[in-house]
Parts: sequence; structure tokens; C-alpha cells
Amino acid sequence: MARALDSATRDALAERLRFYRELGLVDLYRRPVNEALLAQLESAGTAVVEPASIPPQPQAAQTPAAPAPPVEAASELASHSATPQPNFIPEESAISARKSISAPPQIGSAVAPEDRSAALLQIVEEIGDCKRCPLHKERHSIVFGQGDPNARLMFVGEGPGADEDAQGLPFVGRAGQLLNNMIGAMGLKREETYICNVVKCRPPGNRTPEPDEANTCSPFLFRQIDVVRPQVIVALGATAATYLLGQRQPLAGLRGRVHAFRGSSLIVTYHPAYLLRDPRQKKEAWADLQIAMKELGLKAPQRS
Ligand code: URA
Repeated sequence: MARALDSATRDALAERLRFYRELGLVDLYRRPVNEALLAQLESAGTAVVEPASIPPQPQAAQTPAAPAPPVEAASELASHSATPQPNFIPEESAISARKSISAPPQIGSAVAPEDRSAALLQIVEEIGDCKRCPLHKERHSIVFGQGDPNARLMFVGEGPGADEDAQGLPFVGRAGQLLNNMIGAMGLKREETYICNVVKCRPPGNRTPEPDEANTCSPFLFRQIDVVRPQVIVALGATAATYLLGQRQPLAGLRGRVHAFRGSSLIVTYHPAYLLRDPRQKKEAWADLQIAMKELGLKAPQRS
């Protein structure tokens, strides 16, 4: 018999199933584990979706080539965007045109896979009780990063929000939940990836980090990247794209293609917090993630 779920877990799982459904990822939605979960959610009165709107699992395997998923169900998550989200990011204008961004430093030397955990810990030690920029004044935690030191896929966000500042871990709030769903849709688990941010301390009020803050903190990010050496990096939003690529450009000009970056393939997409505010853009983000999947040699999940 399936284990009873607490309400927070139930809500998170229900949201994940909605997300799969929004993207038309039938095979992820219809997995046996989800069937059991759906039954539990139903008996607990948590409606995920009217069963009639999910088409039956087709028998023949399909190999879709990254078509845009349906958006008809976007309204389910749109209701969340009425609540102010952590880290609201004006995607096209995150960085003031007046201020400068540092060029990325030289690539560091390779670290053997078995030494990567220790190498990351060494960076944590060097950061120490950092007071290099004004962000230290209001932070509760330095949010270094989380995940597999040998991950093939890395996500880079902007900076911690309130939940991350409280827990000391990246992407653990609502935007993090959506990121987890995005990772799940790629057929991966969060713990198989590495997740970090441009700045490691929460900007007050979740404002965009100032260039001097981002420029002060980003050398540590570059060192994390050089240790992990992921095959693919996904830059989440304009701030990550700007400080990784060392150039300020509207997100629209950076998305939809692969950038060569420090030996990795870098793909730019929307920040999950932005997607919570404007769920219509999820299909675009999904197209970006499929570019990342192709780079990783991952098979696109089956769609309805
Ligand atoms: N937004 C970010 O950019 N990073 C986090 O860790 C959480 C929210």
C-alpha cells in the first residue's frame, strides 16, 4: 500500500504532475509511480487534472524532434503568479546599461573527478565569512551551491531568495520547485545536476545584484564551473547569462542556441521565477531545455 503523503509533499507532487501535463509529457505523467500518486491525490481531494484531458499512452515509441508543447493548461500555474515571486527578474533589462561587467577569467586547470568535492570545499573555505561586498550585511547564509560535483549538467541562477537564504541551499523555494520539475521533465533528478548562482548572498528584497556585487562574487562561480566541468550549463535568466558570457544582451538574442563556454555548452533560458510570473513562456523554456538535452545526448520524452 502506498505511503500517505503530507500536504506539502502532496502539493509539490501535484504541481509536478501539472507541469508534465502542461508540456504534454505523457510518458512522465503516466508512469506507474504517478498512477499510484494520482490515486492518493484524488482520495485526499487534491485535483491535479480531469483524467479525460490526458490522452491514453500511445503504444508505438515516438521520437519527437523538439516541437513546441501545448500551452492550453498554462492557466493552472498562472494563478500562482498573482503572488509576488522571489527574485522577480525583468528578463530583458536585468543589468543597467550604464554599469560594467567583468570579463570571465582564464579557465582553471582540470580537477580529477575524485578530487572535485574537496576542490569545491576549498572554494567554500576561501569564501569564508565573506564580507567582500555589501550583500553580506543582510544575509543569513552564504548559498554556495548544491549537487553532484561531477554533474554533466549545471544550472546557474541569479542569487538566493528568502527561502534559499534561510536554508543555505539554492533554488529551494517556489522557483526551485519549478526548476525541479524542469529537471524531472528532462528525465533527470535534481541531485544528478549541480545548481548554483551568480551571487551567493541574497540581494535585499530580491533585487537584481549590482554589477560590483556580481563582479565580486562571480570569480567563485567560475571556479565552481572549472571544478565541476559540466558538459552543459543552463543559464537561468538574464543575470546569469550576462555574467557568464561577460556580455550584456537581451535574453531573446541569447536563447535558442548553444554558446561555447569554458569547455562547456551553454544554453540560456528564462529564469523559473519569471516562468512563474508568465507561464506562457514555459514552452519556450522547454524548447531551450531540449537543446540542452540534445547536447547531453538525452532522449526527448514522449509527448501527447
Ligand atoms: N532564484 C535564484 O536565482 N536563485 C536561487 O537560488 C533561488 C531563486
